[in-house]
Amino acid sequence: MITRIEKVDPVFPDAAVIETAGRILLEDGLVAFPTETVYGLGANALSPDAAAKIYAAKGRPSDNPLIVHIASIDALDLIADPIPEEARKLADRYWPGPLTILFRKKAVVPDTTTGGLPTVAVRMPSHPVAAALIRAGGGYIAAPSANLSGRPSPTKASHVIEDLDGRVDMILDGGEAAVGLESTIVDLTEEVPVILRPGFYSREMLEDVLGEVRIDPGILSPSENVRPKAPGMRYRHYAPRAPLSIFEGDAGNVAAAIEERLAEAARRGEMAGVLCSGETAERYRAHENAYVIAAGSGNDEAEVAHALYGALRQFDEAGADRIFSEAFYGGQLGDAIMNRLLKAAGYTVVRV
Ligand code: TXA
Ligand code: MG
Repeated sequence: MITRIEKVDPVFPDAAVIETAGRILLEDGLVAFPTETVYGLGANALSPDAAAKIYAAKGRPSDNPLIVHIASIDALDLIADPIPEEARKLADRYWPGPLTILFRKKAVVPDTTTGGLPTVAVRMPSHPVAAALIRAGGGYIAAPSANLSGRPSPTKASHVIEDLDGRVDMILDGGEAAVGLESTIVDLTEEVPVILRPGFYSREMLEDVLGEVRIDPGILSPSENVRPKAPGMRYRHYAPRAPLSIFEGDAGNVAAAIEERLAEAARRGEMAGVLCSGETAERYRAHENAYVIAAGSGNDEAEVAHALYGALRQFDEAGADRIFSEAFYGGQLGDAIMNRLLKAAGYTVVRV
């Protein structure tokens, strides 16, 4: 298939382009589009055939459910029942935005979309291109991240093209995704609300609306006995091609340990990628075999989150033999960053 690639203004997208993209969705085609979190691969969520095409294009296991994207709160009524009071409060505060809420699904939502689950995950994105496309495409767009299954999520159109050119009908290029990590997923069907995937909205921000909120124990742990409730969190994900280790501990010790590993790698004739804060980058750059990406200042997690997936792809492109990363804890986005980084590393952590 020939993939049509269209540049769109991220704030004032061209109406004719959006209309064409919307028509593709109404005819059960696939359109990749920017959101404020990462790029999504969209299809009509209420059409079993369209949703099935998403799994095929991504190479995604069909028991891993999709998030349904809407463009207005009223759209919830057709697909979810009940709509709890807490959900309304959360939506009032944080929609449109990087928050996904689980509901019991109505029959109109096909099993292909929810991977056979009785629940449906719903999000209302704030990105103007996403909102316009959802409206033009019928109001209900299933959209996983627009990467091949197992690859880092795309934060710009070139990443999508790398993975999906020739596999989808259209890619809308609306520049870089602002957040860089996927939405926070919250489950309100338990007695105490549970975060199934950490994201831009932190536990504290949800607690501000809901009172006590728990974090799914599967999120920062590799344990086999804690099965995360979001099926997608079980799969090895976001994997760069080279093995990745995370170094955690006192900042000085971390830098020393990574420098030691760089020297060892040099003796083996290997090139190593290093993901670090701006503060330590120069130390690593002194090593000739190091390909260093400073993911922003260590105390600015927003910058780290924004840079993370792109960095993992760059290490692949550069042909790194292995990757060493500093740990990035703390702040509003610390849990979200470490959740993705730990999964990319297959939970390989060196404590120093
Ligand atoms: O920010 C985002 O949420 C992005 C953009 C494109 O909106 N989308 C995204 O979709 O990250 P995806 O498919 O890559 O991740 C969806 C996650 C998976 O872990 C999936 O298992 C979980 O949501 N999920 C979806 N429906 C669910 C359900 N009914 N119950 C539990 N988990 C669900
Ligand atoms: Mg994904």
